[in-house]
Amino acid sequence: TWERTFVLVKPDGVKRGLIGQILHRYERAGLVLVGAKLISTSRERAEKHYEEHKGKSFFEPLVDLLLSGPSMALALEGAHAIEVIRKINGDTEPRTAQPGTIRGDFAHMGYTRSPELKGVINNLVHASDSPESALRELTLWFDEADFVEPYPTCL
Ligand code: CMP
Repeated sequence: TWERTFVLVKPDGVKRGLIGQILHRYERAGLVLVGAKLISTSRERAEKHYEEHKGKSFFEPLVDLLLSGPSMALALEGAHAIEVIRKINGDTEPRTAQPGTIRGDFAHMGYTRSPELKGVINNLVHASDSPESALRELTLWFDEADFVEPYPTCL
């Protein structure tokens, strides 16, 4: 299935100067970039983005993480894009993320749990985990006019 999905390079990734290297990995895998936006988000959007985690111990620190600097929002398309991107990102927990994944290669210990944000996991990127969350998150972060028409790519 051809899918459009949402990726957020979170402020920890932006501050470490990893936007280019992260985007490179999606491009290299043949995913098509159809939207991109650097955003200092509002608290309202950050809370909506993570609403499924409301009530969990790490909800507030997670929202604070998104408010700690700009994020890069990406809209990407491709065959099985949701699954492929989650594979490229690697495990949520950087300790178990495989080498060769974004989190396995870059989210090394020492960066991954910020004491000032109550131990929230800094894992550089967020990606939608289902078609429903992809649509919800794309709508939350982008306006319809932000997307380009899909275009042919060549690798
Ligand atoms: P993300 O893919 O953005 O979705 C939810 C985020 O919550 C996740 O990446 C991590 O940054 C963070 N997270 C998930 N589980 C935990 C946990 N047990 N403790 C702290 N932070 C977590």
